[in-house]
Amino acid sequence: MRHKRENWGSRAGFLLAAIGSAIGLGNLWRFPYITYENGGGAFLIPYFFALITAGIPIIILEMAIGHRFKSSPPKAFRKMSKKMEWLGWLQMFVSFVIVTYYAVIVAWLLKYVFLSFTLGWGASTKDFFYSSFLKISNSPLDFGSINFNTLIFLTILWIGVWLVCFSGIQKGIEVIVKIFMPILFILVIIMLIKVVTLKGAGYGLDWLFKPRFDRILEFSTWTEAYGQVFFSLSICFGIMIAYSSYLPDKSDIANNATMAAFVNCGFSILASIVIFSVLGYTATAQGVGIKEVAGSGIGLAFITIPTAVNLMPASRLIGSLFFTALTVAGFTSVISLVEVPCSTVMEYFRISRKKASTIFCIIGYAVGLIYTCRSGIFILDIVDYFMNSFGIIFCGIAEIIFICWFFKIGYLKEYINRKSDFTIGGIWTFLLKYFIPIFLSYMAFLNFKSNITGNYGNYSTPAVIIFGWGVTLIIVIISVLIPEIYEKRKGNQ
Ligand code: ALA
Repeated sequence: MRHKRENWGSRAGFLLAAIGSAIGLGNLWRFPYITYENGGGAFLIPYFFALITAGIPIIILEMAIGHRFKSSPPKAFRKMSKKMEWLGWLQMFVSFVIVTYYAVIVAWLLKYVFLSFTLGWGASTKDFFYSSFLKISNSPLDFGSINFNTLIFLTILWIGVWLVCFSGIQKGIEVIVKIFMPILFILVIIMLIKVVTLKGAGYGLDWLFKPRFDRILEFSTWTEAYGQVFFSLSICFGIMIAYSSYLPDKSDIANNATMAAFVNCGFSILASIVIFSVLGYTATAQGVGIKEVAGSGIGLAFITIPTAVNLMPASRLIGSLFFTALTVAGFTSVISLVEVPCSTVMEYFRISRKKASTIFCIIGYAVGLIYTCRSGIFILDIVDYFMNSFGIIFCGIAEIIFICWFFKIGYLKEYINRKSDFTIGGIWTFLLKYFIPIFLSYMAFLNFKSNITGNYGNYSTPAVIIFGWGVTLIIVIISVLIPEIYEKRKGNQ
């Protein structure tokens, strides 16, 4: 049965959805931490460089692909060349793998929204998070039983995701982003006003923005900046292709893409100001240095922030604002991650959105159960690292090399210029054709080298082989096999 392709109801709806996808956990906790780790204010130089030289050119390219071919990533690549269909499948699988663990983190955040009403994490936030809440085991392969705390909130989250995806582009995603995105901005602005006036906030901001230029001489700082831009802009794993495939014919490409990129970047800086004001306050209140209070990634949200919240005036209010903001930001990103497989399943199996979203949400939920066991956080850490360091980067290299060198990049450029509010020039082609593939390939080589010589995070070799290399290799193999099987089946019909 053929279904009429849905469309976004308005430009604002599409833009908010793209921004909602981009703004997520990557902005609210990853960006502040890596900025701090990589030279403070000086990190903004490689970050903006990465945004201008790769982030914006690629987001324009992906929006053009979606807009022109009006298909999910696998079909869009198939329309360009049958030989490249596997790349669309790989992007879909990277999205799928990411959403299975990303949803678990959002489920934890949802639980923390409720905990913040009573400061239920207690005085020892670290012990609470690892021992009482997650009940973690000793290693990734020591699975233990399912954690009901996580399971309940994961179930609620997936039901919410399913309801939105099930309701469609205009009635589901567009409605939810029009409500959630303004809420998110309001929450962050309220927090900003509250925290920058705290005693010690200036100390935190000084740490954040004090340039340490020696760090930008290290190549790893630049690779961090590019990795952050890719994950944060939701590029190279199919989302922007899927979302822009629902754009009506008469829609702008270059302007929408650039706006989404800059709003996302501005939000990251705003979030860093909030986080580092809080860290400065905590360090001052405890009479310690900022290094002692700044935690990374998951630790920052679930340990450092609750500790800070405990010390603050109006702690319950600040705590609930913070965790609601993170949950809202994470939720709209989960929706976009789900849309990639959902749109693919709809197209390939010619089934309705209702069926596709139901099937996919059940599968995503079921696979995500692995992260609800006691070793879930370790597994999540390994899978996340491999998807970021290899999955996304590899998809980016393959996409750009294929389009620039084997497909007609000139044709896409002309298409973008015909459709956009402003035109793009030769510099766009130059960056995509030469600069980005060379830079990304070198980055991938360095990642590969460092992972061959040592295990990520000092995890055991079997754990890294199964959850890191294994998962990455399996999705590559399946992505290559699916188009072959699809062709054979079509031939037999
Ligand atoms: N772009 C989303 C984030 O930053 C996935 O979290």
